[in-house]
Amino acid sequence: MKTKILSVASKRLVFKPNLADYEKEYKRFSYTEHEFELSYLNDHKINAAYNAVDRHIISWRKNKIALFWEGEDGTAKKYSFLDLCILSNKFANVLKKYKVKRGDRVFIFLPRVPELYISFLAILKIGAIAGTLFSAFQSQALEDRLGNSDAKILITNSELKKRVDVVRKNLPKLEKIITVEEEFWKEIEKASSALHIAAMSKSDPAFMLYTSGTTGKPKGVVHQHYAILHEHLTAKWVLDIKDEDTYWCTADPGWVTGIAYEILGSWSNGVSTLVYEGRFDPEKWYDLLSRYRITVWYTAPTAIRMLAAASAKLVKKYDLSFLRHMASVGEPLNPEPIYWGLKAFGKPFHDNYWQTETGGIVIANYPSLPIKPGSMGKPVPGITAAIVDDKGHELGPQKEGNLALKPGWPGMMIKIWRRAEKYNSYFKNGWYITGDKAYRDEDGYYWFIGRSDDVIKTSGERVGPFEVESALIGHPSVIEAGVIGKPDQMRGEIIKAFVVLKKDVQANDKLKEEISLFVKKNLAGHAYPREIEFIDKLPKTRSGKIMRRILKAKELGLPIGDTSTLEEY
Ligand code: PRX
Repeated sequence: MKTKILSVASKRLVFKPNLADYEKEYKRFSYTEHEFELSYLNDHKINAAYNAVDRHIISWRKNKIALFWEGEDGTAKKYSFLDLCILSNKFANVLKKYKVKRGDRVFIFLPRVPELYISFLAILKIGAIAGTLFSAFQSQALEDRLGNSDAKILITNSELKKRVDVVRKNLPKLEKIITVEEEFWKEIEKASSALHIAAMSKSDPAFMLYTSGTTGKPKGVVHQHYAILHEHLTAKWVLDIKDEDTYWCTADPGWVTGIAYEILGSWSNGVSTLVYEGRFDPEKWYDLLSRYRITVWYTAPTAIRMLAAASAKLVKKYDLSFLRHMASVGEPLNPEPIYWGLKAFGKPFHDNYWQTETGGIVIANYPSLPIKPGSMGKPVPGITAAIVDDKGHELGPQKEGNLALKPGWPGMMIKIWRRAEKYNSYFKNGWYITGDKAYRDEDGYYWFIGRSDDVIKTSGERVGPFEVESALIGHPSVIEAGVIGKPDQMRGEIIKAFVVLKKDVQANDKLKEEISLFVKKNLAGHAYPREIEFIDKLPKTRSGKIMRRILKAKELGLPIGDTSTLEEY
């Protein structure tokens, strides 16, 4: 395999990066030696929310702005670390009033509004497990997640609540729904701001997120309080967050990036963070970057490609000279957007790699190292990565294989909720297998090749084909469906569904639209098929499993490979 090596970080840095000597730190690194960077409660116990917010109020950062918030309508609000501390203490007391105890699951289903951040911190502060739900989810997706987790309390708004009301009868464990328009602020006003923060063991669960695999319903990935150490160090070293920065992470806390680097790791470093409630819009984004004088920006390849596709004149209208460091995550960042970034901002985007399961960045490009455009970079200090074959044996440089990590870093998931066998299936021969194919070059840089399973990444959002297929067969005209990710220039992939219709149903474009909308309304606003093809029969194994790789190969005009397990087709 030929790798083109280009170095774009050749310009001398005009600032000192937090991780000045990658190789030295990587070699000497141990997590225990960095534990002094955390703050502890009594008996050497920790709490991730305390580390993110409360510990700053006994320092000069007390009145520093932690959260600059801007709504889609232009409303702006500011919260200092002290404000967040008090508000989350108060809401924690509200939750206690509703008998929330350690280990109970409390879910948040909100757009990026201040109440989301306050709730998240409050849940962790009393030792309960915070779960987040992306606001595009619809009833079916909500039922699956709230049902599997046995969520006790849900915090939402009155509009989104309607989607939960539809399935509420199937959620007997859901005791209470708190809406931000009603109880949330009323209860906060009455609540005490004095709180005894729960002193947690390192391995106690802090938060959980549902994420998708190839088969079955989404799984609840659970993270421990100690993950804060990994998130803190990577925010410092990879995102290069410094005290004087104003930082913008464009992710949504419905996904793990929003939790680890919009709440925990970033605030643990005491940075002022911008949260913008609204949707992607090139002009608005440039306006925010410029108005808030953003210095560190963490975003995603689809957004970068969309910015690059917008008018070249637009970026020139804004003063973006404050930007110092830019990073990207979630899907492959091909070299073109990096070169575009260089042209538009005078600096490159630094790609990094991780997963919901890894809890924090594991492979990255750093300000102090040359970038090889197209490469995810090198393992962060504390992470041992390798390329292994299907038996878990290490492969040498330039050999394509499974990207694997040595278990034991603090951010690694501690369990899959109620699915021990699923958790165990991630490990082989002492390695955590990521499910991604990659290779390493002679300099130790990792290069992404693709998923080894059928998981789809559309606009950087992870979607399981099974969930979409299940939603599709809920439509009265559909008998069965096979779903794949189809490569797309802008979104990385789009969801394509191959659908077998019931006999006598008229196949036409109107029906395609209707089916697509059906999934959008029942499953999620981001996880619906943008393309539908009607097909007579799906390729299946003799045991009846849909062979999505054959659908994909057909779609891409590629050879269909080994068909020995294929039933007659
Ligand atoms: O396939 C990889 C892709 O996103 C997956 C993880 O998605 P998720 O659990 O939603 O986590 C998002 C948090 C970053 C990975 O298994 N992925 C992530 N980063 C990259 C990437 N693919 C290529 N390059 C990346 N930098």
